[in-house]
Amino acid sequence: MTNAYIEDFSPGHGTLAPRAWHPASNAKALSLNGSWRLRVSPTADAEDESFAEPGFEAGHWAEVTVPGHWVLQGDGAFGRPAYTNVRYPFPVDPPRVPTENPTGDHLRTFDLPEEWPADGGAVLRFDGVESCARVWLNGTGLGEFQGSRLPHEFAVGHLLKRTGNVLAVRVHQWSAGSYLEDQDQWWLPGIFREVTLLHRPPGSAGDFFVHASYDHRSGEGTLRVDSEVDGRVRVPALGIDVATGEAVTAPVRPWSAELPVLYEGELATAGERVPLRIGFRTVELTDGLIKVNGTALLLKGVNRHEWHPETGRTLDLETMRQDVLLMKRHNVNAVRTSHYPPHPAFLDLCDEYGLWVIDECDLETHGFGEQGWRDNPVDDDRWTPALLDRAARMVERDKNHPSVIIWSLGNEAGTGRGLTAMAEWIRGRDSARLLHYEGDPNCRDTDVYSQMYASHAQVEQIGRRLDGGPRRRRELPFILCEYAHAMGNGPGGLADYQRLFESYERLQGGFVWEWIDHGIRHPELGYAYGGDFGEELHDGNFVCDGLLFPDRQPSPGLIEYKKVIEPVRIEGDGADRTVRVTNRHDFADLSALAFEWSYQVDGETIETGPLSVPVLLPGESAELKLPAPERVHGPGETQWTVRAVLTADTAWAPAGHEVAWGQLPVAALPLPLVRPTAGPVAADGVIALGPAAFDARTGALRSIGAVAVSGLRLDLWRAPTDNDEGLDWHTGIRHAGPWRDAGLHRLRHRLDSVELGEDTLTVRTRVAPAAAEFGLATEYRWTCEGERLRLAVSVRPDGEWPVPLPRLGVRLGLASADAVRWFGAGPGEAYPDSSTAARLGRHESTVDALQTPYLRPQENGARAGVRWAELGGLRIEGDPEFSLTARRWTTEQLDAATHLTDLTAGDTVWVNLDHALHGIGTASCGPGPLPQYQLLAEAAEFSFVFTELHNS
Ligand code: GAL
Repeated sequence: MTNAYIEDFSPGHGTLAPRAWHPASNAKALSLNGSWRLRVSPTADAEDESFAEPGFEAGHWAEVTVPGHWVLQGDGAFGRPAYTNVRYPFPVDPPRVPTENPTGDHLRTFDLPEEWPADGGAVLRFDGVESCARVWLNGTGLGEFQGSRLPHEFAVGHLLKRTGNVLAVRVHQWSAGSYLEDQDQWWLPGIFREVTLLHRPPGSAGDFFVHASYDHRSGEGTLRVDSEVDGRVRVPALGIDVATGEAVTAPVRPWSAELPVLYEGELATAGERVPLRIGFRTVELTDGLIKVNGTALLLKGVNRHEWHPETGRTLDLETMRQDVLLMKRHNVNAVRTSHYPPHPAFLDLCDEYGLWVIDECDLETHGFGEQGWRDNPVDDDRWTPALLDRAARMVERDKNHPSVIIWSLGNEAGTGRGLTAMAEWIRGRDSARLLHYEGDPNCRDTDVYSQMYASHAQVEQIGRRLDGGPRRRRELPFILCEYAHAMGNGPGGLADYQRLFESYERLQGGFVWEWIDHGIRHPELGYAYGGDFGEELHDGNFVCDGLLFPDRQPSPGLIEYKKVIEPVRIEGDGADRTVRVTNRHDFADLSALAFEWSYQVDGETIETGPLSVPVLLPGESAELKLPAPERVHGPGETQWTVRAVLTADTAWAPAGHEVAWGQLPVAALPLPLVRPTAGPVAADGVIALGPAAFDARTGALRSIGAVAVSGLRLDLWRAPTDNDEGLDWHTGIRHAGPWRDAGLHRLRHRLDSVELGEDTLTVRTRVAPAAAEFGLATEYRWTCEGERLRLAVSVRPDGEWPVPLPRLGVRLGLASADAVRWFGAGPGEAYPDSSTAARLGRHESTVDALQTPYLRPQENGARAGVRWAELGGLRIEGDPEFSLTARRWTTEQLDAATHLTDLTAGDTVWVNLDHALHGIGTASCGPGPLPQYQLLAEAAEFSFVFTELHNS
């Protein structure tokens, strides 16, 4: 069978041994990116191999861009993307794959540039092809390979012609290798990374291994470059000029993610000069901790899949740089390259800008978990050569990056001897890095104990070393390689995790799941997710669980994460004018930061000034006195805000960029008072109370002055978030399902009485769902003082409430509203367990801009801690403070929508004034909201004061 290679356990034939990747050398390189001819067939054998012959006429074939995925080009003409999380989208019968195996025949011709040297050899390099390729040059078969996100090279010098070279690549969507690539992401076939022809001059460099360690006791670095081809190693800034294989020690500045010092150097062989960027650092496991240069790390990480909403896993350099800059600007210090080695240029950026990297091998066999891990490839010797090939291709390619401190064997592949073989091979080749793999709770092959989505309580137990387990594991540091599932609104509970990480030495941090939503730009849906391409098996919007929206706009989750992991802690006692600044960096002192204070009265800054903070070393703190405010103020809420900003431009952000901040309250807000000046009067079916008019029969508010108000009543419902929908597997609790079962989305409001008192209009109701005996006795009491109308709401549970409440407050409709101003927390949304990043102040926005565009519509956009807000002609003061939501559709419409394009503005702006909200948690994958963030049905009383705005 000529196609036997597709279902072959082995990784391929004809490729060169893997070697170190480097961006450039003085040798010539010809990019073969660009427009290629493409023919897609439904099966692997639908077409013969004649297309690879020179002279084949492919003029009528379609054109596609390489690198790229063919299913993301051609508007569906070449097939569609498909998304599954765990399940294989084909029958599990390894190594067999379906007959329906979309196969893309790719063709391009090329001439050698004039200056292409006549001597030496040439190598054809593929940086990434999914999932299996067979390659021909000028009609000669070069070989086949599997291993989608790994490089493969062929020696082709003997086949090249000056002009008219024909490169033919047959790519199969499915192969034996697909069983090893069951990551939670879109299945996207194609030549998705670069294709390059590299000239190899006589005497060119082969593989080389830069060993650059740092001794933090002596301050010296030791460099040794082992090279397949002998040569010299030069590092001018250090005066180094030594032979390859020779070690040299010199005083150096070490590399760290915080201070990424790279020394430019070169490896010169007889025929080639390869640029080197050397970072000196030593990674160790000592005292049960991951240490670099003698210091234990706290990883504040993210899991990064490669993603672009239009080009999928094909990323250009600028997009990669954007990712790195966004990470650095949001205080992220680490990346796990989930779940495969990234484009090699990304690692160059990590070296340059400074990020700790866990480089993960392209290996996941999660779908075998569905069958109790029977036939798992990692426990079947026939697959071991393929596993070793993958390990070697990763390590050899990426071994010269100082940013890579940990190798990861893969993700969710169960356990087995294949993993042990990989670990042994990696340790033999590179003893200077640590090994990670989450899937084996015994940590047989690893240096780090790692889990995903553990609850706060479990993490604390591990931190306290009370978790028991095998002895080897007990001695290891702990990381959460995935936590805080950033799907939809959330994650909630980040700050609670961070407190644990900072409290227990053994806990060395974690990696939020995940960096970016994998939405695909779609003409009708905005962004598509699983199922939107008609897949018969899919996992819906579970593929959209990132801290960035697909267009790389930060979500509120990223803003929250930035605050939670800020490397400087600013706390103190505002009344006492004392601020405590703590340097929470692992390596950097505070010399790059300037501090400034400001003083706010009722959210408005009235004084600012610089704060002089000593250059604290990592871990140090200082207590400083803030100046006495110069101006004396009357009653009002007062506070200090202290910010730490970059003093000068850095590689990743301009001077003035805010790194950390803190607010210190001084005096609390005086609560709004209403002393009744008038009472309710009924006439002509209307009750008048000061500025307000009510329906005399129902007691429903109709207007406040000239502002029409509709539908004001108690509201408990929110459009469930992805986290509300999830199952907290630690507690077995779900929220959205039980809420619906309890009928909270279809409450009835029974009117019991409308009572006109001397100065109060009282409307009594009972709020309860059909079919339930539980309810809330709800009373609305209206009073007024001049133009000010006060509503006091009291609720008293009646019967046993089986569920917590999504929200507790009132909603009302306004005929028009656009601009929104408020004094409260902001500028972004905040929920009880995701509120760290919202700061108290005066904020302005619009109804449209208050919406957070979660790809699957759900509860969003609440502004917390609102003292007062102005919108739609009304000023609303809270007693106590409240959460504000305003949108041009109802909660029911939001709940019913599946994509943002389903939401269309109606005539009414629906405003929710919430006394309290249920927390968010991360039960879409992980724990739900902690008990202290749950909103239980309990007696409550809250009020609002409404005033018509006359000159807004
Ligand atoms: C993990 C897995 C990730 C992703 C995540 C949920 O189990 O490693 O790839 O599926 O869950 O989004």
